[in-house]
Amino acid sequence: MASDKITIVGAGNVGATTAHIAATKHLGDIVLLDVIEGLAEGKALDIAEASPVQLYDSNIIGTRDWEKTADSNIVIITSGLPRKPGMSRDDLLTKNVQIVKDVSEKTAKYSPNSIVIVVCNPLDAMVYAAAKVMGFAKNKVMGMAGALDSARFSYFLACELGVSVEDIKCVLMGGHGDDMVPLPRFTSVSGIPITELLNEEKIAELIERTRKGGIEIVNLLGYSAYYAPAAGAVKMAEAILKDKKTVMSCCAYCDSEYNAGGHFVGVPTVLGKNGVEKVIELNLNESEKAQFQKSLAHVKQLALKVDKLL
Ligand code: 2OP
Repeated sequence: MASDKITIVGAGNVGATTAHIAATKHLGDIVLLDVIEGLAEGKALDIAEASPVQLYDSNIIGTRDWEKTADSNIVIITSGLPRKPGMSRDDLLTKNVQIVKDVSEKTAKYSPNSIVIVVCNPLDAMVYAAAKVMGFAKNKVMGMAGALDSARFSYFLACELGVSVEDIKCVLMGGHGDDMVPLPRFTSVSGIPITELLNEEKIAELIERTRKGGIEIVNLLGYSAYYAPAAGAVKMAEAILKDKKTVMSCCAYCDSEYNAGGHFVGVPTVLGKNGVEKVIELNLNESEKAQFQKSLAHVKQLALKVDKLL
């Protein structure tokens, strides 16, 4: 049986780490692509040279040549400028939309049947831009943010409660920004709602840290996170390639769902071989609805900016 083929566009920190994690999980053959001469080639060779130690057999190549990406099953778009201290994700929009436009045109040309996972920022706006340029079915274009934001919230909860990260299941919605909406009512430790285990103030503190999780890393490193974002992207790719029907939050197309009116925004989904196979509609209470609508309004504003730039 032919291997699945995964193209990762952008061989910076997120792209190269995504390639490495995907290789260790035996997800398929990997093409790492970048416009900078030698970058993708060098990182791919380094990852391939780790294979005798880490025992993966995937074919891993680095290239600047889009033809080598042809007929990929999955394309993960990580290219774009990352944040520096003092910048918001939204500050990246003008430059990154042009990069995403170019990459999306090439993805549509070389891998018209692929499923696309966008990782670059501002996330929800870049997913919108990619979907608009590619013209793919809406279930085949999505963004990686919920996996990362949920992972951060889960990690902070596990540390606070002194329990295994494996036991935390959380739901988080909205855009990938400071107004994202972690949902304590739908977050549990092996089925026990966290509202039974932590008081409101502590939960609010951990939500605030989750919302600011990206900038916490930027302030420490001087550039943005990549291990957790890459792990999130690979989890999505794995769910799709193995048709796992994984329930996880991601930036997905919603029309009547949550009254989103045809926008890409973070929602709980089922991911399988057809991409986003279902958006799960939760019965949100008034406060949760208001928080989600506030975040959605911000996502819509950025989509309008994308429309002007494309
Ligand atoms: C983050 O939240 C890079 O947006 C990404 O760390």
